[in-house]
Amino acid sequence: MDGNSYHLGRRKQRSVKSLVDSLYANPTYYEIAFSYRDIPWEVEVMQEVIRTHSHIPVKRVLEFGCGNSPHMEELLKLGYAYIGIDLSPEMLQYSLRKAKQLGYQVELHRLNMVHFVLEEPIDFAYTMLGSLYVQNTEELISHFASVSNVLNRGGLYFLDWCVDFGWLADTTDYWTAKRDGITIDVQHSTRLINCIEQTFEENIELAIDDHGTSRNVKQRSIRRAIYPQEFLLISQKQGFEFIGWWNDWDLKSPLDGTEEIITRPICVLRRR
Ligand SMILES: C[S@@+](CC[C@H](N)C(=O)[O-])C[C@H]1O[C@@H](n2cnc3c(N)ncnc32)[C@H](O)[C@@H]1O
Repeated sequence: MDGNSYHLGRRKQRSVKSLVDSLYANPTYYEIAFSYRDIPWEVEVMQEVIRTHSHIPVKRVLEFGCGNSPHMEELLKLGYAYIGIDLSPEMLQYSLRKAKQLGYQVELHRLNMVHFVLEEPIDFAYTMLGSLYVQNTEELISHFASVSNVLNRGGLYFLDWCVDFGWLADTTDYWTAKRDGITIDVQHSTRLINCIEQTFEENIELAIDDHGTSRNVKQRSIRRAIYPQEFLLISQKQGFEFIGWWNDWDLKSPLDGTEEIITRPICVLRRR
């Protein structure tokens, strides 16, 4: 495969099938729907975090729930090796095609972020847009234990919007995205399922007008909310040191808990 690697194990394919449904099987629509981010700027922020807080030189960068790998191109151009893991074969194929078109080699694995191993360690890990998909406390612990095993000591784990700083009750957001003659109305909503287990249902619904043809794409996930104190406790127990958290990707806005609005908070941990 031109040096690119893409691993789709048979056993894993069977066991994870039910976890993936339609939005994550439609990378192009996903990419348009979530194209509101300023990716080059986000990569600059990640680089600033690396410069300031990493204790090791960074070569191998790993994205959890990489999907369509929005930050991959910028990272490759900066000379990093890119490794992505995801459950969706469609997303992985899409990222692989993108890397090939750009003329880069990447490593993509069909793996569950809850529990995984990699042959070669990595120097920096990240999870974007709240994509830390766990359903219970055991899975959360297992995720951090797996990350701890693959991340070199002194390396950073960067998380975007993965910690819930507000109580997760029922929320609904709407926005519209357009590209190449495709218009998508997006609705993102959450509904609390169990306040002791901290589980909630997340629904992402896309109403698509693709050059005059209407389509609906949906994604329903059952997830466990992750609150700040347990995030600190669990990550520390799994070998991480807390570096900081900031509001809205702004390294000049460290969170102190008194903020009225917290949007897209980023958190940084370092492997001890
Ligand atoms: C919201 S998308 C994020 C895609 C991309 N990282 C971004 O920044 O736009 C979440 C991705 O996580 C993947 N995913 C969901 N649960 C997963 C799991 N347990 N292990 C690995 N990937 C998972 C989905 O297939 C999907 O591609």
